[in-house]
Amino acid sequence: MESALDYHTARALLEWQVELGVTDAIGDVPVDRYALPDTTPKTKKPAQAQSAPVKPVQVDPIAAAEQAARGAKSLEQLRAVMEAFEHCELKRGARQLVFADGTPGSRVMIIGEAPGRDEDREGKPFVGRAGQLLDRMLAAIDLNRTENVYITNVLPWRPPQNRDPKPEEIGMMKPFLERHVALAKPEVLVVMGNISCQAVLGKRGITRLRGQWDQALDLPVIPMFHPAYLLRQPQMKRQAWSDLLELRARLESV
Ligand code: URA
Repeated sequence: MESALDYHTARALLEWQVELGVTDAIGDVPVDRYALPDTTPKTKKPAQAQSAPVKPVQVDPIAAAEQAARGAKSLEQLRAVMEAFEHCELKRGARQLVFADGTPGSRVMIIGEAPGRDEDREGKPFVGRAGQLLDRMLAAIDLNRTENVYITNVLPWRPPQNRDPKPEEIGMMKPFLERHVALAKPEVLVVMGNISCQAVLGKRGITRLRGQWDQALDLPVIPMFHPAYLLRQPQMKRQAWSDLLELRARLESV
């Protein structure tokens, strides 16, 4: 290009470029930048994003339950932290949390196993057939939910198909149960059936343990047959009556 132009043509071209706004001469020959090797600096991905998969944070569910339960300073707060607890799989299969029923601060606190279908639907413990029998048993010794009994369960969510709670589910929810007892401040605990015996007293064998006062969570505890068992085995109601009288006698003696 350079040698072929005469002076006048070259000058005319230059003036034309100046008119277009060119202010600096950069090189004598045009450069085809598309033909040059790509020297654009490549942005490097962080090493972690390229290789190692992100590890999920491991949470100890029992430690999480203990921390949440400790933080609850009232029954309302306890209900709220239990509602927010996401580590128990039972929560996903249940309609709602079944927290408690009756009168907080009562001398008697009853601990059942876990909600069934009716309790899951209503959000209250012992409202189905077993619950109706429980109410009749309590009424026989002048106890009732509206005045002098407080009721909860070891587990606040219904297990699928009413299966037995697993030991790890009981262990995970136990800190909440213990805090529940501490905040409700009963004088005595009634544990109904083997699951609650196991959760509160650490032992099973309700036929042997029923009617015998024991001690747990700094309180006297009496194990009794579960009302659902009494519905299936009505001949055991006689022993259940004797255990209720034992409970009544204890309340009258203190
Ligand atoms: N059985 C229980 O143990 N708890 C309930 O709430 C209902 C049935």
